[in-house]
Amino acid sequence: MRILHYSDPHIPTPLHHVPLYKWLSKRAVGGVNLFLGRRRLFSDAGVKLAALARFKQEQQVDLVICTGDYTALGLNHEYEEAVKVTQQLMDAPSGYVNVPGNHDYYITDALREERFRTYFGDTLGSDLPEYQVDGPWPLVRLIGNDFGIIAVNSSRPNPLPWRSSGLIPEKQLETLVTMSKDSRLADRPVFIMTHYAPLLADGGYDSRLHGLTNAKPFLTACAQFRQAAILCGHVHQCYHVTVHETGQAIFCAGSATMNKKEGFWLFDLYKKEVKATPGRWDGQQFVLSMDSIVTLFHNRSEQC
Ligand SMILES: [Fe+2]
Ligand SMILES: [Fe+2]
Repeated sequence: MRILHYSDPHIPTPLHHVPLYKWLSKRAVGGVNLFLGRRRLFSDAGVKLAALARFKQEQQVDLVICTGDYTALGLNHEYEEAVKVTQQLMDAPSGYVNVPGNHDYYITDALREERFRTYFGDTLGSDLPEYQVDGPWPLVRLIGNDFGIIAVNSSRPNPLPWRSSGLIPEKQLETLVTMSKDSRLADRPVFIMTHYAPLLADGGYDSRLHGLTNAKPFLTACAQFRQAAILCGHVHQCYHVTVHETGQAIFCAGSATMNKKEGFWLFDLYKKEVKATPGRWDGQQFVLSMDSIVTLFHNRSEQC
């Protein structure tokens, strides 16, 4: 089993048809931000997502994970474009699992109108629906008899322009702890995915204004699982870090499309271990950095 994890594509779209009243909010700040440079950083997003889809095909990836921030401003036409340009990535033999990023809920109307559910509803099914206590979250995918994926949502609208922090609601955290005791999950290594990175590459917490507000309780909940790794995005840097207290691994996929920062993770699942290989953009195509492989979930050598 091979899993591709990418994040933060921030697909650019034309903005000239955004109604004037929609600019009277934080979106105005985001719009200016976009025009002043951000848009340029993601200008080749479509080309890179097409290249990532080719990579997925060539590498025979079974399942694809995206940890959010498809859009810049959470607008309907951005969601439409996101669904269109990620279609080939979604079309994976064992499915597609994703969570929204803070940009997908840029201001409250995206959440109120449930745009993520409207556009990505087909991807939000769970193998253990009884645990979906907060909309579709947390959702679960069981991979054969060996592994599991749990997705929790940490994104919310941030009406204040200077804040882009995230929070995992208490009921999702409580449910995560309950799930850690469920024999259908407790006996298998799990990947717990969310948009916000609980720790930065240096092992420290992100800032109060940009990071996951309840990173500590989230890490405590993840530590209840016998074997778990955390997959995230939001920080536009591809890295791997270990939680000092628990030894749990965190993989941040960074952004697959941001110029000069492109990255992702490829996970190969074997019976006795998992190999994680970072990917990068060589200017023409996505390639693997074979000198930076991380091994996790030891003691589990046959491929699943
Ligand atoms: Fe992002
Ligand atoms: Fe983000």
